[in-house]
Amino acid sequence: MFGFGVVGQGLYDIIKTKKLNLEIKKFVIKNADKQRSLPAELFTTDAEAILSDKEINTVVELIDDADAAFEITKRALTSGKNVVSANKKMIASHLEELVAIQQEFGTSLLYEGAVCGSIPIIRNLEEYYDNELLHSVTGIFNGSSNYILSKIFNENQSYDAALQKAQDLGFAETDPTLDVGGYDPKYKLAIVASHAYGIYVDPTAILNLGIDKLGEQDIRFAKEKGYKIKLLPLAREIDNRRVVLYVLPRFVNKDNILFNVENENNGVLVKAAFADEQFFYGKGAGGHPTGSAVLSDITALRYGYRYEYKKHLDAGQVAYSTDYKLKI
Ligand code: HSE
Repeated sequence: MFGFGVVGQGLYDIIKTKKLNLEIKKFVIKNADKQRSLPAELFTTDAEAILSDKEINTVVELIDDADAAFEITKRALTSGKNVVSANKKMIASHLEELVAIQQEFGTSLLYEGAVCGSIPIIRNLEEYYDNELLHSVTGIFNGSSNYILSKIFNENQSYDAALQKAQDLGFAETDPTLDVGGYDPKYKLAIVASHAYGIYVDPTAILNLGIDKLGEQDIRFAKEKGYKIKLLPLAREIDNRRVVLYVLPRFVNKDNILFNVENENNGVLVKAAFADEQFFYGKGAGGHPTGSAVLSDITALRYGYRYEYKKHLDAGQVAYSTDYKLKI
C-alpha cells in the first residue's frame, strides 16, 4: 500500500476489525521519520523494491501526488500487478493511457474509492446501466464543499471556520483549493462521464467554478428564497451523443432530492431513459467510508473483476462539448 493517510488508515482499520484474510506486506511512505501508529518494520520508503517484488500481486495506491501516483500505477500495471487507487486526479488525467496499459498487460485498475467515497457509482455505471440510455448524471461529489455549505446554511457558521473544520475532520484535500475551487468534483465528473458515456474526457477542458466564488449576496439571496446552494457537477447528453460537462454552485430548492444531502455526504442522481430517476446516497469522504470502497475493489480483484468500458465510443467520434449554453 502506497500512502498511510486518512484513507489508508481507515482501510487498515477495517481489515483488522474484520479479520480479513488479506496481508498488507508493506506500507510505502515518503517520510520515514514521521510518528505512526504501527510498528516501523511495516513501513518502507523503497518503492522500487515493492514494485519489483514478484510476491506482491496488488498495489493499493492512496497517495496525494497525482504525478507520483501515475508512475506507481503504470509501473505496477506493466509488471503484472493489479492496482486499486483512490486518486481521482491521476485517473481522470490519464484514463486513456491507463486503459491501454491494462489491455496490453492483462492487468486491472479499479478506483471506486476515487469517486464519491463509499457510493458504488462506478460499478453501477459499468454493470447495472449497461443497456441504458443515460440522460444525465449529477449530484454532490465533494464532501468538503457540501460540509461547508451545510454549516453556512444550517448553522450560520463562517466559510473560514467551516473549511477549517472540514480540514480537521480529514475530508478536505491537502490543498483545499481542490475542493472549494471545484477541481476535485471535476475530476470525479470526468471519471463518471467515462463510465456513463464511454468517452475520454480531458478534465482541464471542463468548466469548474467552486464555492470559493460565492459572495455574501449569493448566500443571502438563497436564504431569502428558501433555497440552498449546492456544488453540482453535471454530465448530460444533449444530442447525438454529445455530452456537456461542468461543475457549478447552483441554487437548489426543497423539492430537489439533493436539498437534504448535508455535511460530508454525497449523492449521485442518475436520470435514465428506462429506469427513470435513481439516487445514490452515502458518505463521500472519510477514512472508513472511502476505505470500504477501496476494500471492495481489492476483494473484487480476487474474483477477476475488471472494468470493461463497454460504452466506449469509436475513436474520433465527438466526445464532449464545452460550448453548451448554460440555463441558469
Ligand atoms: N476532498 C474530498 C471531498 C475527499 O471532500 O469530497 C473525497 O474524495
